[in-house]
Amino acid sequence: MTESFPFIEIVDGELNLPGDKSISHRAVMFSSLAKGTSKIINLSNGHDVKSTISCLRELGVQIKEYKTSVLIQGKGFNGLTKSYKPLDAGNSGTTTRLISGILITQNFESKIIGDQSLSRRPMKRIIIPLSEMGGIIQSTPNYTLPIKIFPAENLKAINYELPVASAQVKSAILLAGLHIEDVTTVIERTPSRDHTERMLGLSVEKKDGKKFISVSKKNYPEAKEYLIPSDISTASFFIVFTLLCKNGNLVIKNVSMNETRTGIITILKKMGGDIQFVNLRTVANEPMGDIVVKNSKLVNTEIDEQIIPNIIDEIPILAVAGLFAEGDFHIKNVEELRGKESDRISAICYNMKQLGLDVEEFSNGFSFNGEIKVSSPTFESFNDHRIAMAFAILSMLLPDGGKVNHFDCVSISNPDFMEQIRTIIR
Ligand code: S3P
Repeated sequence: MTESFPFIEIVDGELNLPGDKSISHRAVMFSSLAKGTSKIINLSNGHDVKSTISCLRELGVQIKEYKTSVLIQGKGFNGLTKSYKPLDAGNSGTTTRLISGILITQNFESKIIGDQSLSRRPMKRIIIPLSEMGGIIQSTPNYTLPIKIFPAENLKAINYELPVASAQVKSAILLAGLHIEDVTTVIERTPSRDHTERMLGLSVEKKDGKKFISVSKKNYPEAKEYLIPSDISTASFFIVFTLLCKNGNLVIKNVSMNETRTGIITILKKMGGDIQFVNLRTVANEPMGDIVVKNSKLVNTEIDEQIIPNIIDEIPILAVAGLFAEGDFHIKNVEELRGKESDRISAICYNMKQLGLDVEEFSNGFSFNGEIKVSSPTFESFNDHRIAMAFAILSMLLPDGGKVNHFDCVSISNPDFMEQIRTIIR
């Protein structure tokens, strides 16, 4: 489906966005593992989290979805049961990688499949450490889906230093470690999002500039109630839209302010963005608050290598902010983007070229400069929700608007994107 976006002159109002996708996946998984009933409020309504729900249902967990909450009847330690059909993780890397950590510890065989995009994404990064723990995993020769996971006899705790900053890899190991008596420790050189350790209340030590995160069976989750803050990655599209729209004024309520996720705000503020955090509070060990944004004049800035894992999902919309900011936009050290839902370096470069800009693509980044020469361009989403939303926002900032092909993929993280836009534009 191709969606057209007109030029918008006024952004004004207040938004309540769905629950954070990363926290939602984890809340569903931890509730499924815990014994008894857990309740989740403001769960993400995106298709990725639906993939996690459907995999856990296949593994015998009862999950009831209501209008504003979800009830999960968790199975307790070793309570999951074999699925007789492959577990379909759809488009979701988080589902695949995290659930693999759980599945290596089960006494039955499982197979995980996914859509075309997920089937090309790298799984070696989890296969290596989970195999080191004694897990038995079979993949394609390229270490991609489908993967089969077999029951393993002697799982062992490991100490593992992450070779790439990845919360998904870290969480896969920690989820496996939850099923082992001895202590497993994951070592991070560059911090990645820390929802797993916060939600499970794990011990985290900092030494020599590294983080040591430890887990054992003692940390096995218990049934409880989860209140999920709104997703800062989803909010970032609306934040950039408001900053760049001539008459922009927006409040976004109850957003996750976890400091491993707020890098996008740090950079946008450094670029001159008028963004305030108000009503800051901590709910269930996760900081949240409201974000107040106003139209601002932006200037491009250096993007530090250390902050990249913190902004990894926001780079498509950051590139849009960079396009309208003073000075040229360039970013490096983002080779991880090539293994996301699409190859996001190529996707962003392709779309920036549709505007007639001078674009340079590197193996680990990109840059662009020049004037916008094309009116009413058509962008390609590459079936990637974040590319679709970033270029929808860009379209609404162009004097003659623009179009985005295959726009329906936004439902992966935010099926209500269009309705939300309608409530804040004039
Ligand atoms: C996620 C971690 C990130 C992020 C993804 C969600 C998570 O991936 O890009 O959208 O929930 O752990 P990596 O851990 O692979 O960087």
